[in-house]
Amino acid sequence: MNTFVHRIYKLMRSRREQYEELRAANSLKEILSYRTNHNFMGFNGQIIRATIIRKMANVSKGTVFVETGAAYGASTICAHRYLCLPVYSCEISLKNFIISRIMTLNMKAIKIYRSSSPMFLRRLCNMDLLSECPIFYLDAHGGAHGKEYLPLLDEISIIAELDQFVVIIDDCRVPHEDNFGYDVYDGIAIDIDFMQRALRGKKINKIYFPNYSADLDTGFCRGYCVFWRSRELDRAHSRGDFSLNLLSSYELK
Ligand SMILES: C[S@@+](CC[C@H](N)C(=O)[O-])C[C@H]1O[C@@H](n2cnc3c(N)ncnc32)[C@H](O)[C@@H]1O
Repeated sequence: MNTFVHRIYKLMRSRREQYEELRAANSLKEILSYRTNHNFMGFNGQIIRATIIRKMANVSKGTVFVETGAAYGASTICAHRYLCLPVYSCEISLKNFIISRIMTLNMKAIKIYRSSSPMFLRRLCNMDLLSECPIFYLDAHGGAHGKEYLPLLDEISIIAELDQFVVIIDDCRVPHEDNFGYDVYDGIAIDIDFMQRALRGKKINKIYFPNYSADLDTGFCRGYCVFWRSRELDRAHSRGDFSLNLLSSYELK
């Protein structure tokens, strides 16, 4: 089977994935052993990252999952099936938009729009569709060495106007652990230096990075960072609850 057909086949199967054992897993060992017997397509196949996202969604009482950059819909489907949340996503490329719509056909709780991400986020905010605490997965990135428009700072400035939210940024450089891959646009990496002014300007003073080594996780070794405006998450992280204890905080200057 060629790679494209194989990927589509696995995506189609992921539409029916139940994730019951993964939801019940309480330790890294149980989480990683789930992956040996099951397909896991979302979040670059990074099952530890997915577990942390689920924990953040549960603790913050996440109401909806919002993704930018659907591609073929792998994380879109996984977010709906694994996190049990309604999902809004967007995709700028016509080809990827059509594929992601086909992959999610008849999944009523998933809506994918053909739009650039800042316009999509503004529309969701204006239509009041986000309810209490949306979980944002910012992944509208082209390629590792692209020269195209990177919407990340515009996305952050829209989201940070909300009272409560959780944000996960994919493809971000993790300090002191370059084994996690990250994206570079026109010579500019997605990293703390790139984002910190925009975040501080919106009174976000702390962000979080994985504190485990990249090769512990499954799937593609991609870096990420997280930030939130959620009292529940502040408290749970300070208590060191599993799996939030796999994130270390970083004070922005
Ligand atoms: C890395 S892929 C997303 C992968 C997907 N989130 C997943 O986990 O399976 C990035 C996608 O973002 C799309 N994209 C790039 N810039 C965008 C923009 N400004 N608005 C919306 N989508 C964009 C690209 O066409 C591409 O399909």
